[in-house]
Amino acid sequence: MSIEIDVVNGDASWAAVEALLDEVWPPHLLKTLPWGEVVFAHADLRVLLRAETGDLACHVGVFRRAIIWNGRKMRAGGIGGVATREAFRRRGYASIALEAAVQTLRDEGSIDFALLFCDPHNAPFYEGRGWKPFDGEIYAEQAEERARFTAIAPYVYDLKRAPRRGTIDLCGLPW
Ligand SMILES: CC(C)(COP(=O)(O)OP(=O)(O)OC[C@H]1O[C@@H](n2cnc3c(N)ncnc32)[C@H](O)[C@@H]1OP(=O)(O)O)[C@@H](O)C(=O)NCCC(=O)NCCS
Repeated sequence: MSIEIDVVNGDASWAAVEALLDEVWPPHLLKTLPWGEVVFAHADLRVLLRAETGDLACHVGVFRRAIIWNGRKMRAGGIGGVATREAFRRRGYASIALEAAVQTLRDEGSIDFALLFCDPHNAPFYEGRGWKPFDGEIYAEQAEERARFTAIAPYVYDLKRAPRRGTIDLCGLPW
């Protein structure tokens, strides 16, 4: 048997994913994180990677959003909830699932760039996979208001566009 990768509907697959995300980010750990209280959007799609054993080992959430970058409407692809269960780490699973997520966004043809948010200790992981820091300001909805979003650092994956600076308004909840 080999690993299996599926790209599935975000809501329909939630039941399968919830336990994995709870294991990776249990409530006591979430409380300690700078983004632990943030309300995030629900993923439109999810990349699910099953190990040879059949266990769900890794998850990547995929989002699509009409955003505004420096006053111009664009289509961003979002990546969030990148998580591998501890017992399955350092086998390349997150790298494979992330690549599948980016390919899914690329295949849509209409996505200008991909955007994710990550804690400083994970930045080398993403930078090693072609993601670049976005050195501007992010605005997002939180508590039904538009506000500057600074809880986690933004990273961009270039598709048609390569935003590095300025202002990105997520025009909704962060991911
Ligand atoms: C960050 C995280 C998703 C990485 O998952 P993973 O499946 O272990 O990732 P990979 O195996 O693809 O890569 C991890 C590292 O293992 C290395 N690696 C990959 N395959 C390997 C193998 N067979 N043997 C040894 N090391 C390996 C990779 O090179 C990588 O190291 P690098 O970043 O220095 O290049 C995982 O540690 C995790 O879930 N952390 C907690 C949640 C979290 O922080 N998520 C990110 C939110 S932004």
